[in-house]
Amino acid sequence: MSIRAIVLAAGKGTRMKSSTAKVLHELCGRPMLWYVLSALRGASVDEILVVTSPELQARIGEFGVKGVVQKEQLGTGHAVRIALEEMRADTAGRVVIAYADMPLVREEIFAEVLRALDGSNALALVAARVPLPSNFGRVIRRDGGVERIVEVRDASPAQLKIDEVNAGIYAFDETALREAVARLRDDNAQKEYYLTDTIADFVRAGKRVTPVMTPDPMHVLGINDRAELALARREMNGRLCAQHMLDGVTIVDPQSTYLEPELRIGRDTVIYPNTTIGRLCEIGERCVIGPNSRLSNVRLGDEVTVRESTVFDSSAGNRTSIGPFAHIRNDSKLGEEVRIGNFVEVKNSQLARGVKASHLTYLGDAEIGEDTNIGAGTITCNFDGKRKNKTIIGRDVMIGSNTSLVAPIRIGDGALTGASSVVTKDVAAGERVAGNPARPLEKKR
Ligand code: UD1
Ligand code: MG
Repeated sequence: MSIRAIVLAAGKGTRMKSSTAKVLHELCGRPMLWYVLSALRGASVDEILVVTSPELQARIGEFGVKGVVQKEQLGTGHAVRIALEEMRADTAGRVVIAYADMPLVREEIFAEVLRALDGSNALALVAARVPLPSNFGRVIRRDGGVERIVEVRDASPAQLKIDEVNAGIYAFDETALREAVARLRDDNAQKEYYLTDTIADFVRAGKRVTPVMTPDPMHVLGINDRAELALARREMNGRLCAQHMLDGVTIVDPQSTYLEPELRIGRDTVIYPNTTIGRLCEIGERCVIGPNSRLSNVRLGDEVTVRESTVFDSSAGNRTSIGPFAHIRNDSKLGEEVRIGNFVEVKNSQLARGVKASHLTYLGDAEIGEDTNIGAGTITCNFDGKRKNKTIIGRDVMIGSNTSLVAPIRIGDGALTGASSVVTKDVAAGERVAGNPARPLEKKR
């Protein structure tokens, strides 16, 4: 017996007023669909099939699942029919169906709705109590079971007063589902095939439908417009912050700390306000991050400080300090105990242990050896108008303030450049140069 899931994601999402498919809109750095899929995976579903629009189908590979295109959006029941045609039949199978526009859904609810499908019934579905008015379909009950679902556009004024609604999460007996979907008709206000009409069909055939209440209606919030998207983002961010705080991270102000899923942040790290940490960052223990910082795809060792700075696609070793007002990017690797101060940009460069660039500097396409000091105002002139060239600086070098290093160039170990030098030729180990263009100050010892 298999447990398979169908996720409905082909809808146009008209209320988003967007040229992007609704379920590709992101909150906390991931598309809505991503969250629904990860909750389903957590509930040990064997296989997931997503019903897509052609636009979404072009990107479905990114999500690691199969998609089937619903060319015309003729309703949720029609979408499920298309999915079932794609899936080989399993007469003993169970099928979970979820809508892709509820990113706050938790994996537990899928497990629970599956447990509630216990062989005595054809369907278990998730219901929620919500404040009215609401756009959700209303649950009509009889004798403790569910008799049918009435969509808002088909509901009577009395039915609209019901505050128990259909969340859009179902566990079906596969055989019963296949039979009922084949019988769906579109004789309703929207001229659509409603998946929810399978319920009345089951009840007519003497089959039982079991409701499962969600503990929190927020978990099944369906996102239809950008205001709801913002609401969901705030909720999701709160959850992400709470998890890291429980794991030993101090977040001074969760409201202004913006996290993504799949981050690793070590114990006793402190995050100050107005800080965004995205894309697979790994941050060590006892770090200090923020305020006013952005980190994306960054690996930091322990006791690293990043203050009022931007760090992208780079790494820094233990006890390194960055900022305030620094910009580290494009595969830069800072070793341990490096110091990057204010108004310093580091791009695609490797700085070994103990390098200091404390003020007003651009280091691009550079390799810098241990304990070298880069004076204020130093620029690696890496671009000659056609290509980017490398600057290679040895260890224990003193680069004087306002030095221009015209790449490609090598500066040997222990060398020195005087203030305001324009260095156009390689400098040998231990050599001291100055001037424009820079010339040796004395014979090499
Ligand atoms: C649906 C339910 C309603 C429930 C609500 C919960 C039906 C008929 N109604 O209404 O009872 O309270 O969700 O949020 O099911 N989709 C397709 N193909 C289609 C139509 C829709 O893939 O042809 C997808 C959409 O992308 C979306 C989901 O199905 O992810 C739900 O569709 P939507 O039109 O938003 O249904 P609601 O009117 O919200
Ligand atoms: Mg909806």
